[in-house]
Amino acid sequence: MRNFSYCNPTRILFGAGQIASLGQLIPADSRVLVTHGGGSILQNGVWQQVEQALAGHRISRFAGIEANPQYTTLLRAVDQARREHCDFILAVGDGAVIDGSKFIAAALAYPGEPFDLLSGSKPKAAVPMGCVLTLAATGSESNVNSVVSRRATGEKLAFASEHVYPRFAVLDPSVLASLPDRQLVNGLADAFVHVCEQYLTQPGQTPVQTGYAEVLLNTLHDLAQRFDMRREPEWLESLMWSANQALNGLIGQGVVQDWATHRIGHEFTARYGLDHARTLTLVQPALLRETLPEKQARLERMGARVFGLTGEGEQLARGTIVALEAFYRALGLPVCLRDTDIEDVDCASHILEALKQHNMLPLGESGCIDAERAARILADACR
Ligand code: NZQ
Ligand code: ZN
Repeated sequence: MRNFSYCNPTRILFGAGQIASLGQLIPADSRVLVTHGGGSILQNGVWQQVEQALAGHRISRFAGIEANPQYTTLLRAVDQARREHCDFILAVGDGAVIDGSKFIAAALAYPGEPFDLLSGSKPKAAVPMGCVLTLAATGSESNVNSVVSRRATGEKLAFASEHVYPRFAVLDPSVLASLPDRQLVNGLADAFVHVCEQYLTQPGQTPVQTGYAEVLLNTLHDLAQRFDMRREPEWLESLMWSANQALNGLIGQGVVQDWATHRIGHEFTARYGLDHARTLTLVQPALLRETLPEKQARLERMGARVFGLTGEGEQLARGTIVALEAFYRALGLPVCLRDTDIEDVDCASHILEALKQHNMLPLGESGCIDAERAARILADACR
């Protein structure tokens, strides 16, 4: 196991009715900027609950943080927060809203150009923030990551800082009831791939992390098998908690991590606007076929422990990739380009070019994916 230092300070309030606690979670003398996306929270009753819970607080509202939050939109929120002297950010929404709010919180406390935060400068502070999660997928509600898009340059950029850990995250699974099936499927797949990025690497002596990763993979796999029960409270609870645990930092401590599927996937979203989770299921099977020599032992283990496959060696590892594709396909997720709406015969070369331009290569847990191997992965995925 590698050395690590881990402290996740986000208080989780889980369960129905927990939005009512917001009044006690945010200091009474705060001036709160409530951030959200499009209209969903105004239609599903979440906004009314937030407004009621914060009746004693001074609040202002910033609407319109897009899926794949745009840098220019977030700068407008920073301006509003400054104008209105806000000293607490409450993000009410999905991964995009929470990621965007982390950027706003860091930018408000940053003395230089906000864009520096997305090009390597580490924030030294951030305005405190909390969140009410409305879509189970990213784990952003209790992690250090934020991904921001810049339409003008076709970039999707990330930063990570302990200063943007939310102070609290309200996880009320009943708010997931208004999600369309597409978003439930996306969330399930995103969480599944988050675990894979921390599990499908070189085997190490990390039985606790490995074992818990398998519990999460099995839970998500089971939810997919029982997709017809997706409107049951018990199903939504399990999705919300497993997606949180998949990327709250815990299973990744002390282990070798990959994230190549995510890096390549981000380029597909930046260029074609494909949903984040769908980029992952598009890229991952091809990436696993290419890196099978490096990942064979873990693929074999995943095949046996998650998909219940028998056999051994390379044949079992290949069987795992076939099972993984079938798992995604059964949920209606793409596993190659023709499963998507993207019509670009030069797609593979455009994505390869973007990876080079954004200095993403080499990729993979051991830097084994160079330009040549990335080209093979993309040729395979872009069938
Ligand atoms: O804008 P509104 O009207 O609210 O609609 C949203 C949005 O269109 C809708 N929605 C959210 N909650 C709802 C709801 N509709 C009905 N009922 C509800 N309760 O859902 C749509 C999709 O939102 P989006 O933000 O795309 O979803 P997600 O949570 O999957 O977030 C994806 C973003 O997170 C980033 C991705 O790159 C992408 O930008 N990621 C963040 C990570 C992190 N912070 O650790 C890790 C991930 O790997 C990922 O990169
Ligand atoms: Zn993801």
